Amino acid sequence: MSSPEPRWRLELGDCLSLLSGVEPGSVGLAYLDPPFNTGKTRRGRGEHAATVYADSFGGGTDYREFLRPRLAEIRRTLAEDGAILAHVDWRSSHHVRLLLDEVFGVERFINHIVWSYGLGGSSPRSFARKHDDILYYSKGSHYYFQPPMVPATSQRLAGRLKKSTDVLQIPALNNMALERTGYPTQKPLALLSLLIEACAAPGATVLDPFCGSGTTLVAAVASGREAIGFDVSSAALSTARKRLHAVVPANHLALGRA
Ligand SMILES: C[S@@+](CC[C@H](N)C(=O)[O-])C[C@H]1O[C@@H](n2cnc3c(N)ncnc32)[C@H](O)[C@@H]1O
Repeated sequence: MSSPEPRWRLELGDCLSLLSGVEPGSVGLAYLDPPFNTGKTRRGRGEHAATVYADSFGGGTDYREFLRPRLAEIRRTLAEDGAILAHVDWRSSHHVRLLLDEVFGVERFINHIVWSYGLGGSSPRSFARKHDDILYYSKGSHYYFQPPMVPATSQRLAGRLKKSTDVLQIPALNNMALERTGYPTQKPLALLSLLIEACAAPGATVLDPFCGSGTTLVAAVASGREAIGFDVSSAALSTARKRLHAVVPANHLALGRA
C-alpha cells in the first residue's frame, strides 16, 4: 500500500532558523502576516485569554532589520514561478514595500491589494482606518494567477460574477463568527481562501512562516494545496493543529513534527 500524501507540517520556533530547513525552490506561495509593530501586546480571548505575543520592534529600522533576513530566506524557498503575499497595515506597509523591492526587485511587484474589512470604530480626528494591505510580488517573470470571481456590484451586471479588483471587501471576524478560535489577530478563512486559490496552483505548497492560529494552512489544505506553518508560540501551533486535523484527520507529514 502506498503511503498517504503529505498535506501539512507545523514547526515551533523562530521562522528564521526553520526556513533554512525548507528545500530551496519547493514553495509555490508564501503568505506572511507578521507582527505589525503596533507597540502593543496582543492578547487572545476564550481559551486564548492567556495567549500573548509582543507586537513591538521599536522603530522602523529595527522592524526592517527583523524582516529583511526572513524575506530573503522566504525567497530562497520559492519556486521560480512562486510568489509572496505580505500582509501588513498602515504602520508597516511602507517599510515592507521597500524591503520587498530590495529582496525581490521592483520589477517583481504585482499588486498592492487592499483588504477592506469594515469592522471597527471611527475617529473624530482622522478618516477611520478600515483596511490592511497585502503586497504581492513574484520571484520570477512567470507566476500562477487565476483571477478570483466576485459578485458584480453594477446594475448592468446584477446577479453575475466579475473578476475581482485589487480591493477585497471581506468582513473581519466578528465575536460571533463560528471559525473564531480566540487567537489574537486571526484572519478570516474567506480572505485566505480567495488569495490562495488565486495565487497558488492546485497541489502547490503554501508556506506561512508566522502562521498563528493556522488560517492560511487550513485554507490551503481545504483547497487541495499542501501547507507548511511555523510559529514561535506553542499556543498558536496547538490551535493550528486542531483546525488542520478537522480538515485532514489522517495527515502523514504532521506525525512527530508538531
Ligand atoms: C499576526 S499573527 C498571525 C495570525 C494568523 N495569520 C492567523 O490567522 O491566526 C503573527 C504571528 O507571528 C508569530 N511570530 C512572531 N515572531 C515570530 C518569529 N520570529 N517566527 C515565527 N513566528 C513568529 C506570533 O506568535 C503570531 O502568532
